[in-house]
Amino acid sequence: MKKLRLKKKNCAIALLIIFFIIFELINPIKIIAINKLTSLGYSRETSKKIISLGLKNKVASNNYSKFIDLNINDNSFNKLNYDTYKDINYNEKIDMSIVNSLISKEYSSSEIALILQHGNTSDINLFLNQDKHSDIKEYLNYDYAKLSNLERYIEYKSKNGTSYEETVTMVNLNLDKEFYTDYNEITEFSYTMLVNKYNKLSNNFVPKDLVSFSKEYCHGTCPMDNKTVVDAFEKMAEALLEEEKLHVYVNSAYRSYSEQEELYNRLTKLYGANYDVARAGFSEHQTGLVVDLASGSSEKFKDSKEEKWLKENAHKYGFIFRYDSSKVKITGYNEPWHFRYVGDIATDIYNSKLTFDEYYAKFLDK
Ligand code: DAL
Ligand code: ZN
Repeated sequence: MKKLRLKKKNCAIALLIIFFIIFELINPIKIIAINKLTSLGYSRETSKKIISLGLKNKVASNNYSKFIDLNINDNSFNKLNYDTYKDINYNEKIDMSIVNSLISKEYSSSEIALILQHGNTSDINLFLNQDKHSDIKEYLNYDYAKLSNLERYIEYKSKNGTSYEETVTMVNLNLDKEFYTDYNEITEFSYTMLVNKYNKLSNNFVPKDLVSFSKEYCHGTCPMDNKTVVDAFEKMAEALLEEEKLHVYVNSAYRSYSEQEELYNRLTKLYGANYDVARAGFSEHQTGLVVDLASGSSEKFKDSKEEKWLKENAHKYGFIFRYDSSKVKITGYNEPWHFRYVGDIATDIYNSKLTFDEYYAKFLDK
């Protein structure tokens, strides 16, 4: 009798469990909720997670959030922060504890998106140690702004009264620092490489494919440059001859590290330590991508007919005029004769009216 009662009880429990399983599987309320969430764009998995967190109604009444979809399974996802999370326009997985810390510092969704876009985890952790900044958007709205430079931007702007855009460019170029004091070391050859007082070539850097210029473009020994540059230069010089009957000569092109060292020592001894000659490693001449030109029609290159034509046409052949007298504050040099090969982007740089340094900071610095 007792046994029979027990059996009945077990049967009832089993039936109840089966009932619940079936009910869960065909739970019409849950199915409707999942359908609603998937129709917004969430996967079934994400939808189930949303429901299990009790966020179904909130999520269903908002637009799809890629940020939520990607990060809802992170251990630090805190449903209490949903209202801020949902508006973070950032389409990658991220450690949500960082996001929670930014929220607790009262950064808004749009500020958090910018912070995530402009810094890596270690940049953000350092940033979190700083007091709350009120105008980060003004700086981080520029694609090329770096979160790691934010404090320098703020200091540079307050010292120099520059616009936000100019501030970001100048600081990214390290122009808030004394030149030669803090520089990047470059080892890779590229037609768009930046070499200046903040970007140094290694001592043993030698550009690829060095060849001499043709004799007709040299007085005495012909210098060398990268072959693509020599070919482009000769095409440009032929056009100048054909169109204007003018001739240019290459005074100097590739200089090795030790040649630049010798030049630097000689000129600074002669004219003093402040003489405008690049230190070894910091000269664009070591790239094999530049030419210092002389005019065939005039003693001086400055204000010569050749200079005028080249300033207007060099970009068609992949060259840019590199050191304009009005941009010395940025480039450090005033050299009418110095042209730099950059390839196809020359026309873009020419049209932008930016120095190569600025253009690099804005569009090439990855
Ligand atoms: N003469 C220029 C400044 C250079 O050496 O790069
Ligand atoms: Zn030069």
